[in-house]
Amino acid sequence: MARVLTGIQSTGTPHLGNILGAIQPAIEMAKDSKNESFLFIADLHSLTQIKDGALLRENTYAVAAAWLAFGLDTSRTVFYRQSDVPEVTEFAWYLSCYFPYQRMTLAHSFKDKSDRLADVNAGLFNYPMLMAADILLYDAQLVPVGKDQLQHLEMTRSVAQRINHQIDPKHGSEILVVPEAMTFGTTMSVPGTDGAKMSKSTGNTLDVFADPKDLKKAINKQIITDATPLEDPKDPDGSVVYKLCEILMSADDAAEMASKLRAGGYGWGHAKKALLEALVDGYAEPRARFSELMADRGAVDAELKIGAEKAREVAAQTLARVRTAIGY
Ligand code: ADP
Ligand code: TRP
Repeated sequence: MARVLTGIQSTGTPHLGNILGAIQPAIEMAKDSKNESFLFIADLHSLTQIKDGALLRENTYAVAAAWLAFGLDTSRTVFYRQSDVPEVTEFAWYLSCYFPYQRMTLAHSFKDKSDRLADVNAGLFNYPMLMAADILLYDAQLVPVGKDQLQHLEMTRSVAQRINHQIDPKHGSEILVVPEAMTFGTTMSVPGTDGAKMSKSTGNTLDVFADPKDLKKAINKQIITDATPLEDPKDPDGSVVYKLCEILMSADDAAEMASKLRAGGYGWGHAKKALLEALVDGYAEPRARFSELMADRGAVDAELKIGAEKAREVAAQTLARVRTAIGY
């Protein structure tokens, strides 16, 4: 039995890339009865970037509703909001006192964000210690993350090892479990509407949960196609519309579309219409479920509350162990 834990920042409604690259694979992993999984919405981390309280709350609901809409089974996963477990902030303080400042200054993610963002706050700098606390508080063994988070995982391992060794040098006892990073099984990189990797920060996303009219607009306006006349043959391989269809459709349907494009008489407009259908019809169920959940925040809160209670039980035990080990 492995304890698997991961967190998702609540900086917006998850897009198609997040769903295919992270949400669906993690839900599949949570189904494995060999694992005990913890999944949380990192809304304390989001505060480093979002200062509008209403938006902070709205994003948490959107992220939670997306996971639930795609079938996260909360009877098998401890699903909670980071801010509902205040133990994590106390723990982050302890960790930061056992981690060298110099090492913190080497974090790529801080360098990258401090170059891009206007609000370069101390929370952004301390981000890795809060993330280490998220992981170590639950004795997590495996942490699935994107490649960009591997350095944070190294820092987490390092601070755990420092505490284990400094507090109990003779026995090197395992006060904290040293976790392993696991890069998400999928190597899939979903292209955005401009052909580059789909990402919130570049505004090339497709929102699977959007109103069909808005999705249609996004597909028609954001995806640029060449001006080959309708009757001429077209190359599917160089086209974003086709790439997205290939990801979303069955292999047979995608192959049929490719041969129609190559044959001529089938235009990019037809392909865009098929893409819209693949999103709207293919995701009809999660779309409907997402709308229901967004209209019934009480239901989302109820799920998160159950998760928070389970999470706090584990958190309290670890924190008590750590406080004693440190000497309080
Ligand atoms: P964004 O790039 O939109 O800010 P995040 O960095 O918050 O997305 O990523 C959240 C999760 O979604 C990560 O696990 C990441 O690997 C996955 N993900 C993000 N964009 C894509 C994409 N275009 N294709 C596949 N997976 C993606
Ligand atoms: N920093 C992660 C990201 O941006 C989110 C996160 C916060 C996280 N705490 C975590 C991921 C703990 C894994 C484990 O994607």
